[in-house]
Amino acid sequence: MKIFLDSTNLTDIKKLAETGLIDGVTTNPTLAAQQQQPFRQLIQDICCAVDGPISAEVVAEDADGMIDQGRDLATIHENVVVKIPMTLDGLKACRVLADDDIMTNVTLVFSATQALLAAKAGATYVSPFIGRIDDQGWDGMILIEDIKQIYRHYGYQTSILAASVRHPQHVLMAAKAGADVCTIPPKVFHQLYRHALTDLGLKTFLDDWKNSGLTLHR
Ligand code: E4P
Repeated sequence: MKIFLDSTNLTDIKKLAETGLIDGVTTNPTLAAQQQQPFRQLIQDICCAVDGPISAEVVAEDADGMIDQGRDLATIHENVVVKIPMTLDGLKACRVLADDDIMTNVTLVFSATQALLAAKAGATYVSPFIGRIDDQGWDGMILIEDIKQIYRHYGYQTSILAASVRHPQHVLMAAKAGADVCTIPPKVFHQLYRHALTDLGLKTFLDDWKNSGLTLHR
């Protein structure tokens, strides 16, 4: 499963990109608004930090506006993925941009029928928001499984991008359900590798080593 960072914080993105474990980045208007930086420059900087798909979202609500903005965003860098909301106009724009060979990510997906239409519109990625579904008392993971089943059945090439991830359990369940990508906030990335028993075990190993007087050379 690929791991994208769901962030616009360049410090976090650059630091985590150094691990070689980050396959791409997703942004949204809310995350962009948290930065004191012009949007195009922000996306350009993220593209320089991570060599992978970088989602940048349109803010027009009509298809023609989304198509214009999407074509413009795609000129920022070859890795830009145009993020489009799951509306009828969004689906129409997705079809046009896909026919232009521009990568797309249909976002704000909360049902399998929405995901079916996104695939038919030629979306490169579909983003089911699992955390926001869980917040409403439903089970976001069932949605991932349903989309997986539908895409496999018909051979759709659209990648399932599990989004709105709140904690490591979401990442684990997305992986088990066969999501192609999971986009996670930096905080959740750090929660994936930390474990108290790892820290404790490492401390014991290093203490024993120091007390032994051994060196690696003899
Ligand atoms: C995905 O692309 C979205 O940017 C993001 O995952 C939304 O997450 P939230 O529900 O935590 O805002």
